[in-house]
Amino acid sequence: MKKLWGARFNKGTDELADKFSFSLSYDKRLAKYDCQTGIAHTQMLIKSGIINKKDGNEIIKGLKTIAGKIQKGAFKFDSKAEDVHTNIQQALKKIIGEPADKLHTARSRNDLIVTEMKMYCKEELANIISHINALQRSIVRFAYDNKQTVIPAYTHLQAAQVVLLAHFMLAYVEMFERDKGRLLDCILRTDESPLGSGALSGTSLPIKRELTAESLGFYKPTENSIDSVSDRDFIVEALADMAIIAMHISRIAEDIIIWATAEFRYVDIDWSLCTGSSIMPHKKNPDIVELIRGETAKLYSNLNEILVLLKGLPMTYNRDLQLDKLPLFESVDKIKEILVLMSKLFESLKVNKKSIDARVKDETFFTVDIMEYLIKKGVSYRKAHDIVGKIVKECLDEGNSINNLSVNQLKSYAKEFDLDVKKLLNPESSVKIKKSYGSTNPALVEKQLKKWKSILNG
Ligand code: ARG
Repeated sequence: MKKLWGARFNKGTDELADKFSFSLSYDKRLAKYDCQTGIAHTQMLIKSGIINKKDGNEIIKGLKTIAGKIQKGAFKFDSKAEDVHTNIQQALKKIIGEPADKLHTARSRNDLIVTEMKMYCKEELANIISHINALQRSIVRFAYDNKQTVIPAYTHLQAAQVVLLAHFMLAYVEMFERDKGRLLDCILRTDESPLGSGALSGTSLPIKRELTAESLGFYKPTENSIDSVSDRDFIVEALADMAIIAMHISRIAEDIIIWATAEFRYVDIDWSLCTGSSIMPHKKNPDIVELIRGETAKLYSNLNEILVLLKGLPMTYNRDLQLDKLPLFESVDKIKEILVLMSKLFESLKVNKKSIDARVKDETFFTVDIMEYLIKKGVSYRKAHDIVGKIVKECLDEGNSINNLSVNQLKSYAKEFDLDVKKLLNPESSVKIKKSYGSTNPALVEKQLKKWKSILNG
């Protein structure tokens, strides 16, 4: 197989070395960008008077034919050609003959590969943003469907206070909104075209880099040819952004797994996302959600892999950089799958209101409300904390409940108490009396729900 660089070599390469260095098996997913880049580059070469129109148009026509085949999945890759660039170059030569030899004028695979990786990144990160949007919509719909439900919330996984389920769900929506911001930010920084940087120093041919940048959809050409061919920051950023998304999702997965246990029974995960046990006939296991949580490990390790790959790498292009692809491709594939599955989870998740209602009867969820009742009557925070702490302790010790205490008993703890304090001992009033911006107050949550609905459907 003829190599693009074969002429200088006085003997063929080792068979295992060939196999070891071939990248076609994974870089073929860049084939469509290779054609687009070739077409834009050739149009520029014609406009700059570097190659003649006739040859240039032949190249463009040939590349369009190849791109059409790739799109239909009908392009036959030659497994003996080391990478995607060699494949397209050879296919072009087969179709148009001699003029194909001019395609690679004023171009190197070093600037080419990073251009294609940036194109891939920009497109896929935008796809991930759409997937996050879809997931946010599913979560908001789920929140709307269960708008009245008040659930227990935890700190240290110990019963803390009650909140609206919708408020809880919107916390997830906020997390994902930050994720989208990070992805957008990464897209913006990736939006500079390295094409025309050549191997590392640029070229003596009168190319017009702004033309290829524009026709490939980049905001502008990169500023420094050395940085252009060696920079892979955008891959690190993309992998970091995806790792953070996975981290968020793994936390949500954990909430759902806990809520779906028989001990909690707050939700039912749809059967289509569960599996059974080969030995225990009663089981309905949340395997898919567990695997989603588990795959986060892969997203972290891919980030780590690229950071280690780049560490201490000398300027400029080094073949190590070929190994940037698999971690990125794998993380992109996985995060998209995870986001779709997460949407399906919320679309089919059922709330078990009975168990939730039974649980939020627990008076300990309202101790802060009782404290604030006293504070509103002029008692200091410190004193109020001590008073309520004492009531809780004595009720727990005696198996009693605050609701059972008489006025006199209440007043023995603090003269500020009246019977109306008992109105606080229910979940609905607990959320209603919250007033602060961003709190679980139903009117405020309703406003947030409306806001998100219009943002996400707008
Ligand atoms: N396959 C290489 C990569 O993915 C691009 C080719 C550049 N190779 C070279 N020997 N200069 O980074």
